[in-house]
Amino acid sequence: MFSTKVLQQRIADAFSTTRFVREPERLYEPIAYALDLGGKRLRPVLVLLSCDLFGGNIEEAVFPAMGVEIFHNFTLLHDDIMDNALLRRGRETVFQKWDENTAILSGDTMFVIAYEYVAKTDPALLPQVLGLFNDTARMVCEGQQYDMNFETQSSISLSDYMMMIRLKTAVLVACSLKLGAILAKADPADAEKIYEFGIELGLAFQLQDDFLDAFGDTAKFGKAIGGDITTNKKTFLYLKAFEQAKGDILINLTNYFFSNEISGSQKVNGIIDIYRKLKINEITSREIEYHYRKALGILQSFGFNPVRTSEMVGLMEEMLGRES
Ligand code: IPE
Ligand code: IPE
Ligand code: MG
Ligand code: MG
Ligand code: MG
Repeated sequence: MFSTKVLQQRIADAFSTTRFVREPERLYEPIAYALDLGGKRLRPVLVLLSCDLFGGNIEEAVFPAMGVEIFHNFTLLHDDIMDNALLRRGRETVFQKWDENTAILSGDTMFVIAYEYVAKTDPALLPQVLGLFNDTARMVCEGQQYDMNFETQSSISLSDYMMMIRLKTAVLVACSLKLGAILAKADPADAEKIYEFGIELGLAFQLQDDFLDAFGDTAKFGKAIGGDITTNKKTFLYLKAFEQAKGDILINLTNYFFSNEISGSQKVNGIIDIYRKLKINEITSREIEYHYRKALGILQSFGFNPVRTSEMVGLMEEMLGRES
């Protein structure tokens, strides 16, 4: 049994000893920049934790785990262009530091490198590993398209939202866990079950991300507060606010979101104020808790000795109590 700390260090070492820069520098430097900034590296740690949980050799999972993290970082390079986000991990985003074309092409290259790493695996497992990774990558793109479609659509329901975050975020969390299980040659039914655990965890994780986008602290979150509000994202907070608001509050909320005269920090602060009045922070926390409980139930249903799943539970709590 490895502790999460040891696995985090293993991933950190794997990245710090890999040199991503080659010629032309303009293509590779942004890749090294993004990967050096690190972030929480939750997904590769989930790969290793899951591999360990099912009795696999974590050393055989390090390259595929890196592949998943490189893929995640690729999605962020493009996501920041799509969301017009200038700050990530407390630093300038790639498209802001260089330009959009650079972020597109370096991102594309990261997608290729991600495949190279994911494919560094036992040839007997390769078809299954690549099948999972292909399906996941396509679903993430589908989720990202729904996320953008919804910016300009007003009749989005909560179930539309859950479908969208399942695709853009939860499937990659689930894929990481299932990948670890496959590499450990776990029973296929168990690999499927850990995937479902990952879906619930991933849904809770994106809900927390939406929460922090309004109620977080830039110094810890590393991203600008209110980015989702500025871009009219149909987040859980947005949908719940429109569901709860009545009378003057509804008029104000509608004005803030749809008037052309209000923008920038006035819009962000006005809407966060309304979210607070409507207790959207508490409602969102309850929804996060709901998915956390569901995930925990699935994990417990494996019947493992709780000592064996304690690291997974600890990481899960870290992910959902996160401020960054
Ligand atoms: C950001 O993911 C994108 C989401 C799916 C919310 P993380 O919060 O895992 O980002 P880093 O990698 O730790 O910066
Ligand atoms: C991210 O969603 C999902 C993917 C990058 C696939 P967000 O747009 O909410 O992520 P952040 O907040 O920019 O990290
Ligand atoms: Mg974004
Ligand atoms: Mg986005
Ligand atoms: Mg976000």
